[in-house]
Amino acid sequence: MRLNSLCLSSLLAANALASSFAHTPSKPKHRSALTSPERRSTLAKRDASLLCSTAAPIKPKIVIISMIWYEDTSLNLYANNVTVPGFSSLFPDAHCTASGEVCQMTTGEGEINAAASILALWLSKCFDLTSTYFMIAGISGGNPHHVTTGSVTFAKYAVQVGLQEEFDHSQTPDNATSGYYPQNADYPDEASSEDYPGSLYGTEVYEVNENLRDRAYYLASLAKLNDTDAAAKYRANYQFAPANQPPRVVKCDSATSDQYWSGSVLGDAFGNYTELLTNGSGIYCGTQQEDNATLESLLRGAVLGMLDYSRVIIMRTISDFDRAPPGETEVYHLLYAAQEGFTPSIHNIYVAGIEIVKDVMKYWNGIYDRGLTPGNYIGDVFNSLPGPFSPDIGTAASYIN
Ligand SMILES: *[C@@H]1O[C@H](CO)[C@@H](O)[C@H](O)[C@H]1NC(C)=O
Ligand SMILES: *[C@@H]1O[C@H](CO)[C@@H](O)[C@H](O)[C@H]1NC(C)=O
Ligand SMILES: *[C@@H]1O[C@H](CO)[C@@H](O)[C@H](O)[C@H]1NC(C)=O
Ligand SMILES: *[C@@H]1O[C@H](CO)[C@@H](O)[C@H](O)[C@H]1NC(C)=O
Ligand SMILES: *[C@@H]1O[C@H](CO)[C@@H](O)[C@H](O)[C@H]1NC(C)=O
Ligand SMILES: *[C@@H]1O[C@H](CO)[C@@H](O)[C@H](O)[C@H]1NC(C)=O
Repeated sequence: MRLNSLCLSSLLAANALASSFAHTPSKPKHRSALTSPERRSTLAKRDASLLCSTAAPIKPKIVIISMIWYEDTSLNLYANNVTVPGFSSLFPDAHCTASGEVCQMTTGEGEINAAASILALWLSKCFDLTSTYFMIAGISGGNPHHVTTGSVTFAKYAVQVGLQEEFDHSQTPDNATSGYYPQNADYPDEASSEDYPGSLYGTEVYEVNENLRDRAYYLASLAKLNDTDAAAKYRANYQFAPANQPPRVVKCDSATSDQYWSGSVLGDAFGNYTELLTNGSGIYCGTQQEDNATLESLLRGAVLGMLDYSRVIIMRTISDFDRAPPGETEVYHLLYAAQEGFTPSIHNIYVAGIEIVKDVMKYWNGIYDRGLTPGNYIGDVFNSLPGPFSPDIGTAASYIN
C-alpha cells in the first residue's frame, strides 16, 4: 500500500510501531499494519511445513484475529508460538499463552490474505476451535457522521461493498450519484429495492450474534479510551458530532473492500449499499479490507462443525476519517492531512479488547463455555447455517436452502 516506506516492524512489537509513526508527523496514519521490506524478506525464507508445530491441538478460549494487537503487557502471548501451515509467510505463527487459552494470529492485509489465513486456521487442525471465541480486532476508517478517530466499534453486519459494478463517475449519466452500481442493477447505490443486486456471490453480507456483540460493547465501555491532543486537533475541523467529540464505544457496522476508498461520494454510496443489503438496519460507520473475507472463511468452518459462528466478535477502532472535513479536498485529506487518529486507534484495540479477553477467562465456566444464545439470525445471505431464525438480510429470493 501507499505507506510502504514507513518502517513498521512486527505487529506485536507495537511500541516500536507507535514510535516510528511518532517520528513521521506529516504522514497520515491509515487502516493497515505495514511490514518493512527487511522483515518480508526474512520471513519469506522460513521453511514451509505441512505440519503444525504442536503435537496435540490447542483448544483456545479466544483467538484474536489481528492486523495489530497493541502492547502485549499482561497476556504473554509469546509463550507458545505455533507455526500453522497455510498462514501468510509474513505472519507464519499463531501466538498463544502458555496454557493455550488465548491465542492471536495475523491474517495479512486485504480480503485475499484474510480468507486464505482463516481457512488455514481451521483446516490445519492445529487447534480445536469448537468452543472458541473469535475477536476480529483491527483498525478502520470511520464515517464522521457516526464515529470519530479513536472510537471503538462493534458490528452486527459486515458488508462487502466492493463487490459491485464500477464505472468511473465521469462516465456515468449525469444523474448517477456515484460510479458504483450493485451487480445486475440499473441504478447506482441507493437504499431502494429496485436497486437490489440481481446476482449474488454469497459474500455480500454477514450477520453475527447481537447478544455477544452487546456484551462486548458493554465490556469495552468500561475501559478508559486513549486519546491524544493531535487527534483532537484534526477532529475539530469537523463542525459536527460525533466527529468533533472524544472517542467513544459505538455499535455500528463495517464495510469491506480491497479498494481503499475515500471521500463523501463513495462513503455515501456504500452507506446506501449497506442499508440495502441489511434491509435498512445496517449503519455504515467503518471501512476496512478484511472482515467479510474473514467471516466467509469462518462460516465455511462453521458449516462443517469445526467452529461456532455464534462466537464471533467484530471490533474495529477508528484510525482515520473516510471523508474530508468541510473546506478540505478529499485527496489532501487522505494523502497529506495529519489526521493523527492512528495512535489512539492502536492503543484502543488493546484497551478495549483486553476487557473482553479478561471477561471470557473470568466467566468461562457457566457463561462463555455454554455460549450466549443468539437472539437474531446469524450467517450469510445464502442462509448456509442451520438456525432458529429466518434471514433478515438479503431477500427471500437469495436464500438457496
Ligand atoms: C515467539 O515469537 C516471538 C516473535 O516472533 C519471539 O519474540 C518469541 O521469542 C517467541 N517465543 C518463543 C517461546 O520462542
Ligand atoms: C462484510 O463484513 C461486515 C462486518 O465487518 C458486514 O457488516 C458486512 O455485511 C459484510 N459484507 C459483505 C458484503 O460480506
Ligand atoms: C437518470 O436519467 C435517465 C435518463 O437520462 C433515466 O432513464 C434514469 O432513470 C435516471 N436515473 C435515476 C437514478 O434517476
Ligand atoms: C494515549 O497514548 C499516548 C501515546 O502513548 C499517551 O501519550 C497519552 O497520554 C495517552 N492518553 C490517554 C488519555 O490515555
Ligand atoms: C444514497 O441514497 C439516497 C436515498 O436513496 C440518495 O438520495 C443519495 O443520492 C444516495 N447517495 C449516493 C452517493 O449514492
Ligand atoms: C425488512 O424490514 C421490514 C421493515 O422493517 C420488515 O417488515 C421485513 O420483514 C424485513 N424483511 C426481512 C426479510 O426481515
